Amino acid sequence: MKTRLTEMMGIKYPIVCGGMMRLAYPPLCAAISNAGGLGNLTAAMYEDRESFRDAIRETRHLTDRPFIVNVTLLPSIGVPDERYQMYFDTLAEEKVAAVEISGTPLNRYKDGVYFKKLKDAGVKLIHKVGSVRHGKSAEKAGYDAVFAAGVEEGGHPLNENVATTVLTPRMVEELTIPVITTGGMANGRSLAAALCLGAEGIMMASRFINTFECKVHEKVYEELIRRQENETVLYGNSIGLQGRGLLNDSMREVLKIEARGGGLEEIIPHIAGSLGDDIWQKGDMDTGLIAVGQSIGLIHDVLTCKELLDGIVHDAEAILRNSLSRF
Ligand SMILES: Cc1cc2nc3c(=O)[nH]c(=O)nc-3n(C[C@H](O)[C@H](O)[C@H](O)COP(=O)(O)O)c2cc1C
Repeated sequence: MKTRLTEMMGIKYPIVCGGMMRLAYPPLCAAISNAGGLGNLTAAMYEDRESFRDAIRETRHLTDRPFIVNVTLLPSIGVPDERYQMYFDTLAEEKVAAVEISGTPLNRYKDGVYFKKLKDAGVKLIHKVGSVRHGKSAEKAGYDAVFAAGVEEGGHPLNENVATTVLTPRMVEELTIPVITTGGMANGRSLAAALCLGAEGIMMASRFINTFECKVHEKVYEELIRRQENETVLYGNSIGLQGRGLLNDSMREVLKIEARGGGLEEIIPHIAGSLGDDIWQKGDMDTGLIAVGQSIGLIHDVLTCKELLDGIVHDAEAILRNSLSRF
């Protein structure tokens, strides 16, 4: 399966893993790249230069294929500037294949110094955006591609709430750089549909949690299989940063706080990152933010990354072939 994404990144399948805080470590990243996709290493899990560089090198030790590094650029949430600068300096020095930027456009950060530095180092820059407007400014700034993130996605969908099915073809109408669909993508039907909508590939995150290489507690796998597409909620509009999370006790509490006009201080204890280890390593699915997307409705099993990616592409090709034979 060849698309502008596979050509640009030198990968077998047009399937990318999205940034996943506390989950997208080197073994998962490398397993996805080894399976023919583009694995993701998420920078925010590393606070100093040595551990970040070690993670990049560990990934390179586990795979000789390209991978992408996620940098969630949100200076307003209190991450020190030095840390972002350390990420960008290290990524340029290590000449990683690609960087996924979410949040602030990198070209607007520090007068675009790091944008230029990464481009000069030959790193492909892909911005995750939720509107055509943001897609157009990414193209104008010189990004190599965009992830078109629909409201179905886990993490932080833009509060304009445009669905993937409309956002993707709208981006394709307006941009010339490759558009990669994200939000609600999980199987062969998703990939076939994204290609029909004009995308050059898909990005998935939630689906990759239910792989054997994503080291989480057994209960996490079971819960994502059990829960359906209508069991995530949007939260956070009252604090200016919309997010999507699995409907659990913490999310119910957050929604109640928001409904009665409570502020960030009251919300934080329910979504704090420090709860992450209990969620992923102990399988406590009712406490804390579990940032999965509506795509959990399409998760029915646990597979290896290779089984997952081979299956998605096999099914997408069959669907596209069969659709043509109808006419
Ligand atoms: C557990 C989890 C953690 C995530 N953490 C981040 C993150 O740190 N930075 C980011 O830009 N996106 C993050 N995301 C969003 C994904 O990169 C991606 O945009 C989104 O999940 C795609 O939708 P899907 O999960 O339905 O495939 C996270 C998603 C999940 C499921």
